[in-house]
Amino acid sequence: MNMKHAMNNTQFILKHKQKQVYINIALCLLLIGFTYRFYFSSSIRISSVIVANDHHKLPPPLPSPVAEANNTAIYKGSLECDIFTGEWVRDRTGPRYTNNSCNTIEHHQNCMNNGRPDTDYIYWRWSPFGCKLPAFDPTLFLHYMRNRSMAFIGDSISRNHVQSLLCILSQAEEAIEVYHDEEYRSKRWFFESYNFTLSVIWSPFLLKANIFEDNDGHSSGAIELHLDELDSVWVNEFSNFNYIVISGGKWFLKTAVYYENNTIIGCHSCNKENVTEIAFNHAYRKALRTVLDFVKKSDHKVYTFFRTTTPDHFENGEWNTGGYCNRTGPFKNGEVNMRDVDMIMRDVELEEFENAKESMNGSVLRLFDMTRLSLLRPDGHPGPYRAFHPFDGKDRNVHVQNDCLHWCLPGPIDSWNDLMMSLLIRG
Ligand SMILES: *[C@@H]1O[C@H](CO)[C@@H](O)[C@H](O)[C@H]1NC(C)=O
Ligand SMILES: *[C@@H]1O[C@H](CO)[C@@H](O)[C@H](O)[C@H]1NC(C)=O
Ligand SMILES: *[C@@H]1O[C@H](CO)[C@@H](O)[C@H](O)[C@H]1NC(C)=O
Ligand SMILES: *[C@@H]1O[C@H](CO)[C@@H](O)[C@H](O)[C@H]1NC(C)=O
Ligand SMILES: *[C@@H]1O[C@H](CO)[C@@H](O)[C@H](O)[C@H]1NC(C)=O
Ligand SMILES: *[C@@H]1O[C@H](CO)[C@@H](O)[C@H](O)[C@H]1NC(C)=O
Ligand SMILES: *[C@@H]1O[C@H](CO)[C@@H](O)[C@H](O)[C@H]1NC(C)=O
Ligand SMILES: *[C@@H]1O[C@H](CO)[C@@H](O)[C@H](O)[C@H]1NC(C)=O
Repeated sequence: MNMKHAMNNTQFILKHKQKQVYINIALCLLLIGFTYRFYFSSSIRISSVIVANDHHKLPPPLPSPVAEANNTAIYKGSLECDIFTGEWVRDRTGPRYTNNSCNTIEHHQNCMNNGRPDTDYIYWRWSPFGCKLPAFDPTLFLHYMRNRSMAFIGDSISRNHVQSLLCILSQAEEAIEVYHDEEYRSKRWFFESYNFTLSVIWSPFLLKANIFEDNDGHSSGAIELHLDELDSVWVNEFSNFNYIVISGGKWFLKTAVYYENNTIIGCHSCNKENVTEIAFNHAYRKALRTVLDFVKKSDHKVYTFFRTTTPDHFENGEWNTGGYCNRTGPFKNGEVNMRDVDMIMRDVELEEFENAKESMNGSVLRLFDMTRLSLLRPDGHPGPYRAFHPFDGKDRNVHVQNDCLHWCLPGPIDSWNDLMMSLLIRG
C-alpha cells in the first residue's frame, strides 16, 4: 500500500481506536439491518415454491442466441485486462433506472425519494485501464440465465447488490417475488419468461452462528461462531444454484466467541477470563476456507463469484459519533488510502482465493474484487438520506443518523453488475 494520500487535512484515515471502530461498524450494520425489517413488513407473502433443478453440470454459461452477436466479443475484450483496476469516468447517460421506474428499491437506499439534493453521483461508470467495460445488458444476462438459478449469499451489502440487479433487470422483465423469510432478509424471485430464479440469502458469516439480538437490534451477548460449520440456511439450498455470489466482511469484526468441534477455541474482544483472544482475521480466514472447501468437495458444481469486502466512508467520526459522508464526487486513484481493517480483510480474501482457485474440482471460482473501486466512491452512500427527508422541519445543522456503508440506488453499486457480467461472459 504505497498510495500517497492527499487528504492530510481531513481525518479520513482513522488508524487509532481501531477496536472501537470495529465494534461501531458492527453495531451500525446491526441497526441498519434491523430497520430494514420494518420497511418490508407490509409486503405480501407469496408462497409459490420454485423447485429448482437437479443439475449437476455446471456453467460455463450457455451460449445464447443474442450472445453470439457482437456483444460477446466486446465483453470478452482483452482477456488479460484487469477489469478491477481503473477509474470512475463521467457517464452522461446516467442510471438505467430511477426511483420512479424501479419500485423495489429499499427505503433506506432510495436516496432520490428521500430527498438527497445532489445528483452528480449517478453520472459515473467504472472504466478499467486497458479495456472497455460494456454496460450490463439485462436481456443478454437473462438469456445466459435461462433455466438457471443464482444466489447472493452474505450480509446486507449483498442485499443492496441484488436490489440494484433487480432494478436493472426490471427493464427486461419484472421479477415475481416468490419467497421471503420472516424477517425479509432472505428473498427469492422468479423471472418467468427465462425460467430464472434469483435469490438473496442472509448469512452474514456464511457459517453457523448464534446471534443474540433483542427486538431493538441490540446485541445482548457475544455471537457464537462455529468456524468449522456452515450456515445451513444456504447449504441446504446449495444444490439448487448454478451461480453463487459469496461474500463475508464486516460482521467478522464483531465481538464473538469462536468454536471448533463444538468447543470454544477463543474469542474476539470478548474479554472473558481464560478465553484466548483470537484476531478476527484468523476467524475470517477459517470461515472462507470452510466455505471454499465445501464447494470443492460438493458433488454439485457451481460458478462462484467471490466478492471482496467493501469499505465504509464515515468521515470525522464514526456512525455513532457524528461521522458523515457528504462528498459529491469520486476520489481519483491515489487520493485515498484503504483503512487497515479493510486491507487486512482483503488480504485474507486474496490469499484464500489464490489458494483455492486452481483446485475447485469442477466448480469455478472468480474473484469479484470490489474493494478498491468502492473505496473511490465516498459520494455513493445515503448519508442522512437513509431516512425520508431527514431535515424537514429541522435545522439543517442538526445531526441525523448517517449511513456511509450501504449504497444509494441508483448509485455506484450498479456498476458492480457491469463487472459481474464481464466475468460471466469470460467464463
Ligand atoms: C455487429 O456489429 C456490426 C458493425 O459493428 C453491425 O453492423 C451489426 O449490426 C452488429 N450485429 C448485431 C447482431 O448487433
Ligand atoms: C422519486 O423521487 C422524486 C424526488 O427526486 C419524487 O418527487 C418522486 O415522487 C419519487 N417517485 C417515487 C415513485 O417515489
Ligand atoms: C426450468 O429450468 C429447469 C432447470 O433449471 C428445468 O428443469 C425445467 O424444465 C425448466 N422449465 C421450463 C418450463 O423450461
Ligand atoms: C430450458 O429448459 C427447457 C425445458 O427443459 C428446454 O426445452 C430448453 O431447451 C432449455 N433451454 C436452455 C437454453 O437450456
Ligand atoms: C476437531 O476434530 C478433528 C477430528 O476429530 C481434529 O482433527 C481437529 O484437530 C479438531 N480441531 C480442534 C480445534 O480441536
Ligand atoms: C480460569 O482458570 C483458572 C485456572 O485453571 C481457574 O482457577 C479459574 O476458575 C478460571 N476462571 C474461570 C472464569 O473459568
Ligand atoms: C471432488 O468432487 C467430488 C464430487 O464430485 C468429491 O467426491 C471429491 O471428494 C472432490 N475432491 C476434492 C479433492 O475435493
Ligand atoms: C460536508 O460537511 C462539512 C461539515 O458540516 C462541511 O464543512 C463541508 O463543507 C461539507 N462538504 C460538502 C461537499 O458539502
